[in-house]
Amino acid sequence: MKTEHEIVLETKDLNFYYGKKLAVKNITMQFPKNMVIALIGPSGCGKTTLLRCFNRMHDLYKGIKYEGEVLFHNENILTKETDATQLREQIGMVFQKPTPFPMSISENIAYGLSLKGIKNKTEQKDRIEKALKEAALWDEVHDRLDKNANGLSGGQQQRLVIARALAVEPSVILFDEPTSALDPISTSKIEELISELKSTVSIIIVTHNMQQAARISDKTAFLYLGELIEYNITDKIFTTPDNELTERYVTGRFG
Ligand SMILES: Nc1ncnc2c1ncn2[C@@H]1O[C@H](COP(=O)(O)OP(=O)(O)OP(=O)(O)O)[C@@H](O)[C@H]1O
Ligand SMILES: [Mg+2]
Repeated sequence: MKTEHEIVLETKDLNFYYGKKLAVKNITMQFPKNMVIALIGPSGCGKTTLLRCFNRMHDLYKGIKYEGEVLFHNENILTKETDATQLREQIGMVFQKPTPFPMSISENIAYGLSLKGIKNKTEQKDRIEKALKEAALWDEVHDRLDKNANGLSGGQQQRLVIARALAVEPSVILFDEPTSALDPISTSKIEELISELKSTVSIIIVTHNMQQAARISDKTAFLYLGELIEYNITDKIFTTPDNELTERYVTGRFG
């Protein structure tokens, strides 16, 4: 019987520097497939920095340095041979502020498909519909696919960004505080969506919202000052954490 979850992503002794500043320190952790993993910790502890190591998002800036390994399906992606564009299709990213492109709803999704070499209009149309359905947005937008995406509400825009990531069939999606700019109803829609998506993609989510982490994640990692303090089943982290720092943070008695 298979009891262990397959590991989709893994870090080994990962350090990350902005210039001389060491922002992520010696992190070794594994991300099982088809789970939602939450990254929590106080502002400035390195959550975003760690998340951006997973799809080499930092490469777009000068003066940065990685040390150690990030293994994606057992292959180190911190090597010169890694095609970062291709990697970002397989490991998609959703930010705090919805970031649709200033084009129509369908073009937002077609864009990534074309980059991936899927240019046939019929195939694009099918994939756009599928992605919008997966992102629970189809019913709200199917009659205005050629309208500008900026006309959507914030919550709809965030689901469009998720559809855009899903259309290129990623194995992992990274979420950096995806609901912090949204109202409670849009937030619960995104949370519901994330819980459904984990059957097809693995999810890593940064959140400041403890209830959100407790509601939607299977495992939770607590970071402090760039270090991984504790990483365990979410229920354990929120009820009986091993580390005192973790306990102080999750019970709101920090600092
Ligand atoms: N571009 C940068 N150059 C230099 N230092 C940076 C840069 N971006 C972040 N840092 C520093 O790296 C550390 C980690 O920052 P990071 O943004 O990863 O924290 P975070 O946990 O995501 O915080 P928040 O919850 O506020 O988003 C902080 O000390 C921050 O000041
Ligand atoms: Mg951050």
